Amino acid sequence: TTLTLAAAIGISATANALTVGFAQVGSESGWRTSFSESVKAEAAKRGITLKFSDAQQKQENQIKAVRSFIAQRVDAILIAPVVETGWQPVLMEAKRARIPVVILDRNVSVTDQSLYLTRIAPDFEVEGQRAATWLTENTQGKCNILELQGTVGSSAAIGRMKGFNDTIAKFPETKIVRSQTAEFTRAKGKEVMETMLKAEGGGKNICAIWAHNDEMALGAIQAVKEAGLKPGKDILIVSVDAVDDALKSIVAGEINVSVELSPHLGGPAFDVIDEARAGKKEFEKWIRMGGAVFTQENAAEELAKRGAK
Ligand code: AHR
Repeated sequence: TTLTLAAAIGISATANALTVGFAQVGSESGWRTSFSESVKAEAAKRGITLKFSDAQQKQENQIKAVRSFIAQRVDAILIAPVVETGWQPVLMEAKRARIPVVILDRNVSVTDQSLYLTRIAPDFEVEGQRAATWLTENTQGKCNILELQGTVGSSAAIGRMKGFNDTIAKFPETKIVRSQTAEFTRAKGKEVMETMLKAEGGGKNICAIWAHNDEMALGAIQAVKEAGLKPGKDILIVSVDAVDDALKSIVAGEINVSVELSPHLGGPAFDVIDEARAGKKEFEKWIRMGGAVFTQENAAEELAKRGAK
């Protein structure tokens, strides 16, 4: 009867019975929260039982969560890794237990690629390149930059930094004068920017802030204002994620550009799990997510499209 009923209302019995563990980084940013919400909503829509773990930006918490998912014999595990290294042992444990793993967002650095089905993520390097391209095109290739890095050792920080630095390397008068991590949070973004601006004599010779995510950019904006300067005008603000708050800030003229990172990774992740359960063996190792670049020209239109409040 259950099967017949499931078929009658269009739910696959396999998907219905699934229990999936999700080892999430934390809730450090608006983007991360949207990502968690989207995975939870997608699981609910598909009748999947989701075991959700917030690691509070600590890899050891994530590893513990994955071990606990293995002990509970979940059907599949999603991991959004805090940092790239240190994953091989626990992924081997999952493989031995025959539990498929899908990597979301940041990458893992492992020698055995068969330890996970696939990774669903954007190209962080391209995000950095796009941010730097906007900046060099809008500053005639002359700019002193303060950089707020994301979490040290995370692919998002590593890739964005590389893409940005490779692009500005072609412009000898565009340089990063200070660079420090603010761990992808708004509070740290403000705190680190206050220190940087003080060290730079108030920031008069600074042309731009390059923040590895919107959350840090929004914190930095407060520090710029408190230093008596206008964000978006006296100091350009370049960022990544394109969360609603950042788009509003673009409309208000305070952030100049934000490169979009879609938080909707849940749907493609559950599709991969379904395909694996249906017998598919070979997956592309990287399913790439794209995104737009938002500026004064298109931010309002995008907010309306999203129905943002
Ligand atoms: O790994 C993706 C990054 O992590 C997002 O850009 C940032 O907002 C989050 O904390």
